[in-house]
Amino acid sequence: MQFLSKRKEAKILDIISVIDKKKKGISLSESEIDFFVKGCLDGSIQDCQASALLMAICINGMDESETSALTLAIRDSGKKCDRSGINGIIADKHSTGGVGDKTSLIVAPIVASLGLKVFKMSGRGLGHTGGTADKLESIKGFNVTLSEAEAVEAVNRTGLCIITQSDVFAPADKKLYALRDVTGTVDSIPLIASSIMGKKLALGDDCIVLDVKCGSGAFMKTKEDAVSLAELMVSAGKKAGKKTAALITDMSKPLGYAIGNSLEVIEAVDVLRGKGPEDVTRLSIELSAYMLRLAGFGDMEFCRSLAEDALKSGKAFGKFVEMVRAQGGDTDVIFDVSLFPGAKISHFVKAEKSGYIYETDTEAYGIAAKLLGAGRKKLGDVPDFSAGLLLKAKTGDYVSKGDIIAELRTSDADCAEDAGRIISSATVISDSAPEMTDLIIGIIED
Ligand code: URA
Repeated sequence: MQFLSKRKEAKILDIISVIDKKKKGISLSESEIDFFVKGCLDGSIQDCQASALLMAICINGMDESETSALTLAIRDSGKKCDRSGINGIIADKHSTGGVGDKTSLIVAPIVASLGLKVFKMSGRGLGHTGGTADKLESIKGFNVTLSEAEAVEAVNRTGLCIITQSDVFAPADKKLYALRDVTGTVDSIPLIASSIMGKKLALGDDCIVLDVKCGSGAFMKTKEDAVSLAELMVSAGKKAGKKTAALITDMSKPLGYAIGNSLEVIEAVDVLRGKGPEDVTRLSIELSAYMLRLAGFGDMEFCRSLAEDALKSGKAFGKFVEMVRAQGGDTDVIFDVSLFPGAKISHFVKAEKSGYIYETDTEAYGIAAKLLGAGRKKLGDVPDFSAGLLLKAKTGDYVSKGDIIAELRTSDADCAEDAGRIISSATVISDSAPEMTDLIIGIIED
């Protein structure tokens, strides 16, 4: 008995010394990182200890070899997909997190309708950003936790399948991701790179296109940080023998007009039916074209035309419906989006003066959506899928005093006023029009 409690104490002391080392800015060894990841999963490291180490990593960073060790530890924390079970080229796209970014819901069916296989592992909401898994779960019955056999069967039958981190694939990412979401430890280059690449490498993709967001709504606020993150992930993909490219894209304003789970699915359906916002449509085509190009379909111009045609012809919409059906979701709401359950309360935010929307603190928009119920405030929360924002004006638009700039949707009356105040102070209105940034800021390849 005494022996057992001594062993337990030694383990606790060990994680404390790992935390202490990182707190002092000292690099961790591969075995310390493995010990941390295994301990998080087997319960020998408590959530509070894991969160303390994540915070120390967030503050003091990790060098390339630590990041690579964490990526491989996440990849190896569960099963690696037996890719031989999937017939065809497996391609994937992954974003580093944005506000209103619903492109995965559009890109996956576009490329699957053109013959690529998409076996995608997506996360839930993270920090102020939304997650594809939550968005899909806003469709009644949609199952993002298929078993490996079910997922592989779905990919072979319909060409695409989107699951979330589970106890099968990348369970360490599921654990660390959930802790990061509620402990303010998301915006760290090594944590983001290892989270994304650990998941991608576990599923055995052949081609990976990364959408690295940059600007006020992204975790990387500057182009320099976005480029460093992109380079780190592209090099990890290449080292693992995957064709990998990264687009650096603008997140200084929300993507599209809808922020929040079912609101974003509805906007994605609009894009798939050829009547969605221009920015979401353009980015979805560009990301799809890169995936097709990496997979050897031809040059960018040709791949772009294929992607455009998949949208125009309705082939991509058909693939989306097939995916929803194959994963148990209610397809009625896809054909008639008015059937999505709506929020109880609509609250309108009005322009405080006339002028151009000069810039927005887009992270604050994400925080407002979370406050309205679209995200989690603590571990285990279930989001309100109908909550979020519908924007009526964005950067560059002229508004008159009193015009509605955003409609807030929630079921929690107490938070509507607060979220409204956040949106007002996050929206800068000026007499002069802003210079508009291009949606695609840069590309990192070989
Ligand atoms: N997406 C992920 O999967 N992980 C992150 O850390 C950020 C975005």
